[in-house]
Amino acid sequence: MFPAVDPIPLPAPVWLFKSLHGLTLGLHFIAVEMLLGGLIVAAFWNFYAKQFSGAKDAGHYLAGAADLTGRLPVVMTYVINLAVPPLLFAQVLYGQALYTSSVLIGAWWFSIIFLLMVCYSLLYVASSRSYRGHSTWIFSLIAWLFALTIAKILSSNMTLMLRPEAWGDMYAASALGVHLPKGDPTLIPRWVFMMFGGFTFAGIGLMLLSIGKAHDENMRGFMAKSGGSFAMLGAGMQGMAGYGVFVSQPAVVQKMLVDSQLYSAVGLVWFLALGLVGVAGALQLFKPIVGKALPIIASASGAIFIFATVIYRDGIRDLTLLSKGFDVWKRVEVSNWYIISAFLVLFVLALVAMGWLISIMAKAQPAKKEALT
Ligand code: HEM
Repeated sequence: MFPAVDPIPLPAPVWLFKSLHGLTLGLHFIAVEMLLGGLIVAAFWNFYAKQFSGAKDAGHYLAGAADLTGRLPVVMTYVINLAVPPLLFAQVLYGQALYTSSVLIGAWWFSIIFLLMVCYSLLYVASSRSYRGHSTWIFSLIAWLFALTIAKILSSNMTLMLRPEAWGDMYAASALGVHLPKGDPTLIPRWVFMMFGGFTFAGIGLMLLSIGKAHDENMRGFMAKSGGSFAMLGAGMQGMAGYGVFVSQPAVVQKMLVDSQLYSAVGLVWFLALGLVGVAGALQLFKPIVGKALPIIASASGAIFIFATVIYRDGIRDLTLLSKGFDVWKRVEVSNWYIISAFLVLFVLALVAMGWLISIMAKAQPAKKEALT
């Protein structure tokens, strides 16, 4: 059962909260995928370069790992700053479900703060070691494991909030929030889907870096080729995992998704955009030309894919909750348009400022060793 309705009405329409939620969550997901993918690729490349320093291309692997390792602390600032807005919007819209599930896994939910602090510190350790030419892979690998754990706790909460039937037993088992939910067939596919996205977006990120000016032509060719292979691999893995997410849903939810024109159309866009990422990646891999077209196609399709994922995922949540008696569209709303207008102006200004910061980050050259000594 859902707790009684919140006595405070929504201060803005549901559609507005949902739009803002979708926009900010899509940006959070892009940053998350870049972080996850950047960490695992940097760890693997640095390991390879250090263990097989005489191998052909070892220099490229080392330089590629150093470039990624140096950028990840900045990517993490985006992960975190773009995480808070969707959390707030989701809490406003789905408080009765999301607060309940957050309390039920309270100890784990709080632990995210500490896991995040360790993960973030490791990014800085790896980055500073990288500038000094030291081995970094173990730090990147541990940071990746911490990030996977954070993601698993988030997936656990986002799926537990959809299962009011499990809440009573969990609370009876422990009121301290020390247990994670068990027996939900939707949890692992959903988490795996997000984790595979790291490969897709590491690939897109490398393809984009290959058209920047930070590296010489040889290195750009290496980044284009490896970016293409990760994008192709990631797209294939995410396609399969996405299917796994769908078939793990309860039959009633699957039927509602298929019957909905909106979600059928979004599902098709999702599929086409992911396919385009895979094809652009494959072309880049087999024809490693350092040109702008493929990276731009891959990144634009990647962005469309993420926003389609966000909308479809929102559909899974709304239709699951609807099947259990909670209709988010029926929340009582009393809008204050002066406040909403002021908020929207500030929100757009913040997005513009963020775009400007990203453009500076993209143009940044890796720091020179001598500047740090
Ligand atoms: C390394 C750090 C992080 C990683 C790897 C990460 C990863 C993820 C993943 C995988 C999901 C999807 C979960 C699912 O639905 O199955 C997610 C959703 C979410 N994350 Fe993050 N996240 C990170 C940090 C944060 C932080 C610090 C916050 C809070 C301030 C946060 C807030 C959220 C919220 C609110 C959602 C779901 C929103 C919704 O369903 O409406 N994340 N994140």
